[in-house]
Amino acid sequence: MEFVEQLKSQVDIVQVIGENVRLRRVGAGPRYVGLCPFHNEKTPSFSVHSQHQFYKCFGCGAGGDVIKFVMEIDSLPFWEAVKYLAERNGIPLPKRSEAADEETRRRGVLYEMHDLALEHFRQNLFGPGGEEARAYLQRRGVTRETAEAFGLGLSERGGQALTRLLQRRNYAPADLEACGLVLMRNDGSGFFDRFRYRLMFPIHSEMGKVIGFGGRALAEGDEPKYLNSSETPIYRKSHVLYNLNRARKAIQEAGFGVLVEGYMDVIGVYAAGVSNVVATCGTALTAAQVRSLKRHSTSVVVNFDPDNAGEQATERSSQVLLEEGMRLKVLQLTDGLDPDEFIKSHGAGTYVQALEKSRGYFHWLADRARARFDARTPEGKVSIFQFLLPAIHRMPDKIERLSVANDLADYMGIQPGLVLDEFRKAASERREQRNRAREESSLDPNEVLLLHALMTSAEARAELAPALRTMEGVRRFRSAKVFDTLLRLVEAGEEISLGAVEGRLEESDRSLLLNVLFDDELLRDGVSMEQAAACLRQLSAGEHRLGRDHLRKSIKDAERTGDFPEALRLMNELRDLEREG
Ligand code: CTP
Ligand code: MN
Repeated sequence: MEFVEQLKSQVDIVQVIGENVRLRRVGAGPRYVGLCPFHNEKTPSFSVHSQHQFYKCFGCGAGGDVIKFVMEIDSLPFWEAVKYLAERNGIPLPKRSEAADEETRRRGVLYEMHDLALEHFRQNLFGPGGEEARAYLQRRGVTRETAEAFGLGLSERGGQALTRLLQRRNYAPADLEACGLVLMRNDGSGFFDRFRYRLMFPIHSEMGKVIGFGGRALAEGDEPKYLNSSETPIYRKSHVLYNLNRARKAIQEAGFGVLVEGYMDVIGVYAAGVSNVVATCGTALTAAQVRSLKRHSTSVVVNFDPDNAGEQATERSSQVLLEEGMRLKVLQLTDGLDPDEFIKSHGAGTYVQALEKSRGYFHWLADRARARFDARTPEGKVSIFQFLLPAIHRMPDKIERLSVANDLADYMGIQPGLVLDEFRKAASERREQRNRAREESSLDPNEVLLLHALMTSAEARAELAPALRTMEGVRRFRSAKVFDTLLRLVEAGEEISLGAVEGRLEESDRSLLLNVLFDDELLRDGVSMEQAAACLRQLSAGEHRLGRDHLRKSIKDAERTGDFPEALRLMNELRDLEREG
């Protein structure tokens, strides 16, 4: 573990997290805040501490060190997160034997195979056999520069080229089977290429590694039109947004992302100078994808194809986007053109103008409702509003919901009172839910203050730890395990650091500890020795009270059974206690 400690001491958590989450420093202090990347929120409860090198979300409880962050954000196993951080920071890794578990080895091999495939496809496209494919790109308005920027390539017709290349590199059959780029023959006699004579689009993870490919058919009548890599340990379709690796910075800068349907749309839009564009590429938009977008901005313009399927996809995606608390607009292009075609026939400038004029989602939806119901009759108005309500309720933010509802009531000519009633109901349900959650997670004030004092002050540890070690009340705390771990370390004379304590805790206890340490008020005000000592006194008074109650009961029992010597002894003990207390 020594290497891991060394790594953590050399990597700045604020910088690493800052690449994924927009962070704001709190005053001149060691703490930064931002919107939590792990759950859906409107106001920042995600906090990063540069001194403790920890992050913590008070909303969802996510928290940990820089390695944990990379593991969670990119769904990586432990060693791979370590490797990623080490490589990025130029820190040499220890020998492979130390760092490798089977899963990490497998993933490493898969990345390697994808890098090889990328290069192989690229050479095909720009080599002598790629003439036809290059002409195709030209017809579609993709320049050589754009093709290279997106790493486009070409898979060979014969169905053997990539397989042979990988076999020459001596990859084990199990790795070939796992890589998603080649297929086993039905009779098990060998492998062949999954992609044959297709234009190849590499798909990258957010951190920029090639994890899969999409391939577009070039030969007339070749079905399906698009084919993707199969799911592998490094490629989970429901988690990836195409082009996010290139677009993330532009999304942060523009303050919104543009969501389109396909590969060619991304390429067309990007080449038109709108670089904050990503695509779902053939899957229904998932919450995981939305979260990866939301880390960079909370606004999105949905620009799907203006056909029936595109409209349905817009509605379905909007549900997910709203539930995750995104603000969204909808851009529906004219003449039945998809973004790629639109730019080609109307030019980049016209597209950018259209983008700027995109409508708020609810107005788009209201117009759809109007097409369905008669807005001139009272019944029609109610139907329209009922059509819209579920979407409004999906918005997690109360004020936002209200303002949208009012806006729409206005737009449709409906009484606002009707809207408000509907909302009061929903609001009180939400409040109840939240209170319940809070009660379940609350700690005793004594336990919070004591824990904070013990973690942050050597003086507090010296003064309080021995007494706490013997107290029954401490064992009844919700954070009893945290106290136990901490007090044992103190007793053993170990150095106390956040890492030392949290490293010995299970997830739920770790979360309790981090909650206490990152409490805003405590961080600001600290806990004085007097406060901590007072907590201890209160605790021990409670202990005495319990002790006395217990003694009184034992005395009664002894009297009842006629054991008078015992009763006498206990009475003396009680008197002593009362004198002290
Ligand atoms: N798609 C897919 N499988 C298909 C068809 C489409 O996975 N059989 C995905 C692809 O990611 C594609 C996206 O859905 O890019 C949008 O599909 P479509 O609108 O049909 O493709 P275009 O991007 O318009 O493709 P092209 O312009 O090359 O015809
Ligand atoms: Mn198209």
